[in-house]
Amino acid sequence: MNDQRKGSDAEPTTHFGYQNVPESQKAEKVAEVFHSVAARYDLMNDLLSGGMHRLWKRFTIELSGVRPGNRVLDIAGGTGDLARKFSQLVGPTGQVVLADINASMLKVGRDRLLDKGVSGNIEFVQADAEKLPFPDNHFDCITIAFGLRNVTHKDQALASMLRVLKPGGRLLVLEFSKPTNPLVSKAYDAYSFGLLPLMGKLVAGDAESYRYLAESIRMHPDQQTLKAMMEETGFARVTYHNMTGGVVALHRGIKP
Ligand SMILES: C[S@@+](CC[C@H](N)C(=O)[O-])C[C@H]1O[C@@H](n2cnc3c(N)ncnc32)[C@H](O)[C@@H]1O
Repeated sequence: MNDQRKGSDAEPTTHFGYQNVPESQKAEKVAEVFHSVAARYDLMNDLLSGGMHRLWKRFTIELSGVRPGNRVLDIAGGTGDLARKFSQLVGPTGQVVLADINASMLKVGRDRLLDKGVSGNIEFVQADAEKLPFPDNHFDCITIAFGLRNVTHKDQALASMLRVLKPGGRLLVLEFSKPTNPLVSKAYDAYSFGLLPLMGKLVAGDAESYRYLAESIRMHPDQQTLKAMMEETGFARVTYHNMTGGVVALHRGIKP
């Protein structure tokens, strides 16, 4: 599936939250959001998810099957929650690349991981998920957590990830998704469009970025659509697991 739609001036447009913007502007607008939230990102993650993001990430690590000696890419890795754990799992003979398009998020991630003593087998690379600057067939495992919905051309990003994975390598996409229960869905809507921007304003001084968060989640493909996109890209054995009633889903696919 592609986000592209034609605007009246024939420039392809895409969504930025609920706004329709020229494709060429989306990356810049997403960048503004993450430059703005970078310093408070970890605190806000804990507050807004009530700590749940830690459980979602733990499950992602469990399903990754990462072993000593593996080469792992965490794309849209931000402040490095997954990369830190992968660094322990791959050990001194393995390698972890934490890649992110945003210099502010990458800086917070690098400083945080170095403070925690993570070094030696980890690299920090500023890169766009759509054009990964790595060789073909290079990684055993790629993760992208809460990143794919921010990417303008998701199909290109998935193709780029497929290219740099080794045959037999796995891609794990952790992302907000569609609640499976109508009651959960209602409560979640009230939370996302009420409390979330309010807390964004109070704690991070930025309601707009947290409104974008809620809107971008609603615009992201649901479980079945993302599964179909991964299959269309060429991933095999694509499965997904709903967490917290489908508020979040973890998709997994293998490079044939
Ligand atoms: C919500 S944060 C997630 C950070 C981290 N993965 C986590 O789960 O805590 C989304 C990240 O995606 C990054 N991002 C957005 N668009 C990207 C792109 N096209 N390529 C790579 N990273 C991107 C942002 O800079 C931001 O750091």
